[in-house]
Amino acid sequence: MDRLRASLGIAALLAAAAVLLDASGAVAGGRWGAEYFPNVPLTTQDGTVVRFYDDLLKGKAVVINLIYTRCTASCPLETAKLAQVQRLLGDRVGKDVFFYSISIDPTHDTPEALKAYAERFHVGPGWLFLTGKDEDVRLVSKKLGLSSPTDAVTRDGHQPALMVGNEATGEWMRNSAVENPKFLAAMMSDFFGWRTGKSVRTYAKPVAVPPTGKGEYLFNTRCASCHTIGKGDGLGPDLVHATAVRERAWLTRYVAEPDQMLAEGDPLALALFAKYKSVRMPNLGLNSEEVDAILAHLEQRSRAALEQVHKR
Ligand code: HEC
Repeated sequence: MDRLRASLGIAALLAAAAVLLDASGAVAGGRWGAEYFPNVPLTTQDGTVVRFYDDLLKGKAVVINLIYTRCTASCPLETAKLAQVQRLLGDRVGKDVFFYSISIDPTHDTPEALKAYAERFHVGPGWLFLTGKDEDVRLVSKKLGLSSPTDAVTRDGHQPALMVGNEATGEWMRNSAVENPKFLAAMMSDFFGWRTGKSVRTYAKPVAVPPTGKGEYLFNTRCASCHTIGKGDGLGPDLVHATAVRERAWLTRYVAEPDQMLAEGDPLALALFAKYKSVRMPNLGLNSEEVDAILAHLEQRSRAALEQVHKR
């Protein structure tokens, strides 16, 4: 109960912060509504043309982020996480809330490219991947407060943020898209006022207590959407044997810059890439201290997982 109250408190704080975070000053002129959002046409992964305001926002509860399929930085992690949030929210997605991922690389991201991308992450119904004209997409992301001045130069620098909004009430809140999925799902349930409804699964199973170790925290927030330690392959390989079978220097570099190693033609990176064709291991911009903490956690958890297996 205390934990529940604590998380409600956090949601309230975040909601309050959202008003302050509105950089474009929309709140001053009243709520974000028809006059505020551009009604530009966008195309879904199925090739349907929709209007941003009329079809996607009007009267709806929504979760919106920016992605692009060639991204080798944080977008694959964001997408993997949102897919977990979608699973946690169950059939509310597509009924009580709609997910939208808008490509900031619209020229390259055709509807077909977006459809293939969505399939790789096992995205369910109620989640649209959208492309459109470059200037329209730019306007939409600016109005959502999701664009940054560097987007045009380095898309990889775009902020892994998530806008959660209720168009009907005019309430919007900005979140880090790399939060723990259970936290995000619980926060959304609070924000949209579903706590009393039937599928508050996130409260039936309380939100996990934040882990204490740095390596554990980093692993849970940055890696666990794609990897398990001893529970089988996810979007990426099970890492239970990684610290035992790979050389430490290789692992250290691979976790920090897999994209570089692939580009340089590292044989192991190439072999892994060929085997796990669908999703790519992202470069999450971790520093060497963070990588060390993650590998120490991985080593310890792997040992524990393997001991369990041997005991059985
Ligand atoms: C978006 C999904 C995703 C995320 C997030 C992710 N990985 Fe990966 N990882 C992969 C995929 C996919 C591969 C297989 C290689 C490829 O296809 O690029 C991989 C490969 C690896 C490998 C090589 C495994 C082996 O057999 O040698 C290690 C180690 C690894 N990841 C560690 C991590 C760590 C640590 C994190 C968190 C900091 C992380 N990954 C985050 C998807 C991901």
